Amino acid sequence: MYDIDKQAYIATTSDNQSICLIPKMANRHGLITGATGTGKTVTLQTLAETFSQMGVPVFAADAKGDLSGVACVGGNKNSVKERVASYKLEERGFDYQKFPVQFWDVFGVDGIPIRAQVNDMGPLLLGRLLNLNDTQSAVLTIVFKIAKDKGWEIIDFKDLQKTLEDVGNNAKEYTTNYGNISAASIGAIQRGLIALDHDGIAQFFGEPDLNIDDLMQTDGDKGVINILHAEKLMHSPKVYSTFLMWLLTKLFEVLPEVGDMDKPKLVFFFDEAHMLFSDAPKALVEKVEQTVRLIRSKGVGVYFISQTPSDMPDSVLGQLGNRIQHALRAYTPKDQKALKAAAQSFRTNPKFSTETAISELSTGEALVSFLDAKGAPQEVERAFILPPQSQIGPIEASERDQMIKGSLLYRFYAEAIDRESAYEKITTLRENTLSEKEEKELEKTQAAQKKEEEKRRKEQERIDKAEEKAKEKAAKERQKMFTGLAKNVFVPLAKTVVNALVGTKGKKRK
Ligand SMILES: Nc1ncnc2c1ncn2[C@@H]1O[C@H](COP(=O)(O)OP(=O)(O)OP(=O)(O)O)[C@@H](O)[C@H]1O
Ligand SMILES: [Mg+2]
Repeated sequence: MYDIDKQAYIATTSDNQSICLIPKMANRHGLITGATGTGKTVTLQTLAETFSQMGVPVFAADAKGDLSGVACVGGNKNSVKERVASYKLEERGFDYQKFPVQFWDVFGVDGIPIRAQVNDMGPLLLGRLLNLNDTQSAVLTIVFKIAKDKGWEIIDFKDLQKTLEDVGNNAKEYTTNYGNISAASIGAIQRGLIALDHDGIAQFFGEPDLNIDDLMQTDGDKGVINILHAEKLMHSPKVYSTFLMWLLTKLFEVLPEVGDMDKPKLVFFFDEAHMLFSDAPKALVEKVEQTVRLIRSKGVGVYFISQTPSDMPDSVLGQLGNRIQHALRAYTPKDQKALKAAAQSFRTNPKFSTETAISELSTGEALVSFLDAKGAPQEVERAFILPPQSQIGPIEASERDQMIKGSLLYRFYAEAIDRESAYEKITTLRENTLSEKEEKELEKTQAAQKKEEEKRRKEQERIDKAEEKAKEKAAKERQKMFTGLAKNVFVPLAKTVVNALVGTKGKKRK
């Protein structure tokens, strides 16, 4: 709670000492650890409320749906009421209240759909999502480069699928300029996409994609608590952790440098953080380490939540200044080792043994060490985390639904938009190429037909001419015959007739 003295009051010791987080040091990150059921989520809720009261927006992934109660007025549990009375919290300004919440959900069911452009994710995180090895990731990088050079925007899954298909089909054409594109690697990426599609993750890629400013809102004096419903997303640990890492990277890229501020601009809670680091390639661990280190000066505080500090790589652990350790159980030698390591990560307090205390802590009790005003870790204290002012446990589904649909952002993000991008551009390009080919084919057939017709015409002409000649010849023959006949038959005959006639007359005259 943010108390009447404007202190971020987080926990109280058995001798009524208040443990407060220094707002200026809240961007030096933090870690909340502990075994199952020891109070991690409630601690997160108390911290988130405190930041919200300070006017600092919060982003938190809700692994089990139980953080959603922060949107409802608290006091629903006797354990809370008893603590409020015994710690005399009302005197310090404790007030059962609800907090402004924005629900988000990759699947668009228990929150506003949260989307990213494939382009935006970058090959390292995408390679992890698609389960690619180094060679396959290198091919994916080439595919992105080709798409960029061609002006094909890869926004959604369909765009990536089409680009892969096209680059695969025309691999030879690209090899000289971009390097080897093996069919096996293209196949592996395509298989990765099918698997993600099967898990329903495809809808995460598209537009309208998340505008980071929408996570940094205030409602009156309070910072909005953005809750990512992660129950379903958790079934794919790689997808879940890569998604949160993408968000962190995006925050880092978009936000300006602000140096040290009086309080953070945003606090980011990364629940089930071990999922990010199990099987993580070296490049990814380096990226996390670098992002966490540099995001501090952009005013963002990152708080990881996990079972033990051993879940985190040392390079990241070393940067998490504000620590809350709930109880750990040491059943196996491995547990004992983790417990010892957890104890050693605190600055000791001569009043008690850290190691013994960790195994004795009750629910909601923790070992706490926040940074002092100079940024140095304070001595560890054994303390009770204050109960939240909002409801412990999940919100009613109908109430959540009403809040989602009533949100101003709902109208903007609810429906996906599919504008012209790689898929449409490649489809048009290949259709045009096809019709060009068809046109050439048609021209060729028409030319052949024309040639054939010309040949036939000439042949006909030749035949006609020959017939004409034959006719002329025949006519001439006939003429000749007729002339011959006239000369040899008709003329003598005529003469004979004339003579005969003349002869008769003469005789008569005589
Ligand atoms: N500070 C607290 N004040 C009041 N009650 C608390 C507090 N911390 C924990 N509790 C009680 O203990 C229960 C379990 O706590 P919580 O859900 O935070 O555990 P967790 O460590 O997150 O468990 P898991 O690992 O299963 O997520 C809560 O539902 C609540 O009833
Ligand atoms: Mg929990």
